[in-house]
Amino acid sequence: MPMQGLAKALAAQLGELSQAGLLKGAESVLCGVIGPREGHGPRFLIEGEGDKPFLRMNANNYLGMSLREEVIDAEDAAATNYGAGPGAVRFISGTWSPHVALERRLAAFHSRPSAIIFSSAYAAIMGLIPQLVSKKTAVISDELNHNCIINAISLAAPAEKRIYKHLDMGELERCLDETAKSCTRAIIVTDGVFSMRGDHAPLDRIMTLARSRDNAFAEGAIVVVDDSHGVGALGATGRGAEEYTRSVPVDILVATLGKAFGVNGGYVVGDFYVYSNPITPAEAAAAHKAIDLLDSPDGLSLLEHLRAMTARFKAGLVRLGFETLPGEHPVAPLVTRDSARTVALVEHLRRRGILVTGLTYPVVPRGDEEIRFQISADHTAADIDAALVALAEMAEANVRLARAKQF
Ligand SMILES: Cc1ncc(COP(=O)(O)O)c(C=O)c1O
Repeated sequence: MPMQGLAKALAAQLGELSQAGLLKGAESVLCGVIGPREGHGPRFLIEGEGDKPFLRMNANNYLGMSLREEVIDAEDAAATNYGAGPGAVRFISGTWSPHVALERRLAAFHSRPSAIIFSSAYAAIMGLIPQLVSKKTAVISDELNHNCIINAISLAAPAEKRIYKHLDMGELERCLDETAKSCTRAIIVTDGVFSMRGDHAPLDRIMTLARSRDNAFAEGAIVVVDDSHGVGALGATGRGAEEYTRSVPVDILVATLGKAFGVNGGYVVGDFYVYSNPITPAEAAAAHKAIDLLDSPDGLSLLEHLRAMTARFKAGLVRLGFETLPGEHPVAPLVTRDSARTVALVEHLRRRGILVTGLTYPVVPRGDEEIRFQISADHTAADIDAALVALAEMAEANVRLARAKQF
């Protein structure tokens, strides 16, 4: 039986991962939401944990849109009007008016001529990058780019693949100069905001560099940015890393509808097309509503509150003696630089009813282990303080351990 052979090989691989302590644990299954009350944001119930309420600090729902009444109402109304699914791929009969309206809204939001939605940002990157790569293309990529970019580059098999050190503009420049000798096109690809650390690419400098090398490549140097974590979470009006770095518009921008916009799906700002079901008309209507909300005075207050909660949390981490990284983005890493300490802290927080994500090797390089806290506009000052109180219980032991490691 061929499947038995495969099952055996996969079981052996899982055994190796388990021995190395790298197996992912069982998933937590969320089974209920308790609405905000008494100065606290929403709490979540988990299967097997009874009625214990959890504060969720590991969601990408940066603006709290997924629980917004207006967004849920828009989704409900569109599902009632158009049905639960698109029923076909786009070019057969799966394009519904909410898809087209959302694409227009996304293009306007990013001040671009057009946009196209995909089923996810992952699918958008996988669909996009191979189309941009000819037999004489160099792809130049930041070493910390998201897994979808890494897989898309492998699929595209470019003539030259260069990986530059995280945010190292000198190395990016060298990669461009070296590949210009043999390639006719360069694709520079980077995350806008990097999801593990909440830091961002210097898009202003990358764009200047790319334009300065356009003539070195017969078909130019094109900048592709996946700002899935930046759009809706960074920049004065939530336009992401492009706005935050005051960059000119990047050549091709990819982002998601599944994080700050609180729904599901991805998109590319440009002119592209795919043979796969789109997101549902109801999801498109909900995402459209989320963008409208972000683009209103209400949206500006959400962003302001998000920045205030992020600053409050990061200041608390520093006060408690934990290491974090500077920056305004709501990904707030607590850097442990140690797997065992990461696991112990995550377990302690869970016992205290706080959900966070521990990131250990191979998700991050050894020595960069961290706990990723994700702040949301749903969180109140009381929520942030509750998390800091729980962390304070472990802070002294943590600082002692960190000091001991230095000697
Ligand atoms: C840079 C980047 N691209 C893509 C994704 C995936 O987004 P989606 O869930 O829309 O596929 C993520 C999310 O983790 C991401 O950080």
